Formats: sequence, C-alpha cells, structure tokens
Amino acid sequence: MRGKFIVFEGIDGCGKSTQVARLAERLRKEGHQVALTAEPTELPSGKLLRQALSGKLPKSECEMAVLFVTDRIAHNISEGGIRSLLDAGVTVICDRYYYSTLAYQGLSTDYGWVKSMNLSCPEITRPDLCIYLDLLPEESLRRIAAGRESVEIYENLETLTGVRNRFLEVMEDLRAEGEQIAFVDASDSRKEIAERIFEVVCGIF
Ligand code: TYD
Repeated sequence: MRGKFIVFEGIDGCGKSTQVARLAERLRKEGHQVALTAEPTELPSGKLLRQALSGKLPKSECEMAVLFVTDRIAHNISEGGIRSLLDAGVTVICDRYYYSTLAYQGLSTDYGWVKSMNLSCPEITRPDLCIYLDLLPEESLRRIAAGRESVEIYENLETLTGVRNRFLEVMEDLRAEGEQIAFVDASDSRKEIAERIFEVVCGIF
C-alpha cells in the first residue's frame, strides 16, 4: 500500500520541528514505517536556498519562488526522495512544502503564478494531509529570539505578519480545492498540540 504524505506548515518559530518529531515517534510506536524530511532540502538546490535565506547570496523573490520549486521537484524525484518512499509504503512527514511557497513567495510576487507552478507540476506530489500550526508572529519571534543566534531574511514582524495572513488565505484557497488541511492552535501546550495532531492523523489511516 502507498504510504501517506503528511506536511507541517506555519510561520517561522511556530514549533513545527518539535511536533514533526513527536508525530514520527508516535506513528513508529504504532508500527508505521516513517521518514522525516524537510524543505529547503539537503540537496544542492536546498543548500543554495539556505545561502539565500541567510542573506549571503541575495536573490529576488521571483528567483526564490523558482528555486523552491526546483528544490521541491528534486525532493520528489531524486533517489530516496518523496515519490520512492511513498511507493515503498513509507509514511513521509515533511516540514514545509508548497504551502510555504504560496505564503512567502506568493505574498511578495504573483500568487497565481506561484500557485500554478506548484499545483500544476506533474513532479510535485499532492500531500494527503497538511497540518497548519497557527501562531501569532509576536510569539513566534519571541521563541526564535530565545532559541537561536542568527536570524533569516523572513524572520521579522512585518514579513511574518503578512505571511501568517497569507497562510490563512492559502489554506482556505486549497481547502476549497479539496485538499485536506487541519488548523492547529500552536499556542497550546506541546502535549495538547501533539494530541490534537495525532487525532487528525488517525483520520487519514
Ligand atoms: P525552515 O527550515 O522551516 O526555518 P528554520 O531555518 O527556522 O528551521 O524554513 C526556512 C525558511 O524558508 C523560512 O523562513 C521559510 C522559508 N521558505 C520559503 O520562503 N518558501 C518555501 O517554499 C519554503 C519551503 C521555505
């Protein structure tokens, strides 16, 4: 049987990484084969993006949109990538996917262009479920400041406020197209968030 493809989304600092790890652990305990992955990837295309995100290699927002799409295609079709894992029956949990490109680059470029590059691309697999962790930008920036020394290009109040608003619109837009999207309040305790996520995930198995 084909594996399930689950994506986590939300603004920087919303706690995705913690919840991705918790969900993987729980599913493995239940006997599922699980692979964790993330975008930007560790592939050459993802490394280029990391440089751009740090501000060391300035890129225009249209270039960023295309680079994220290129990285996503490689993520899907490369050896050991999303496609082959799903075909092998492995459940894939991915930290960020095209919802991020629609929210971040869709905000700064042309939403329709970014949407069609991602959703009309035959080499970009559609997830079975997207879990959107919603958090206010003020709180996410507080968490980022407490946990890290370096700050990336989008990690400021103005950008994250715009991105969060855009995320809410993106999720509504894609829901209307039939995508399965769960909203989770990321200001609750880690344990409560994990419980809510597990409940939702059970629904797709
Ligand atoms: P992420 O790895 O989640 O952040 P962190 O460095 O805190 O672990 O994502 C890196 C940044 O990339 C984040 O600011 C969001 C941005 N991003 C986009 O702008 N578009 C995209 O398509 C993706 C996948 C990420």
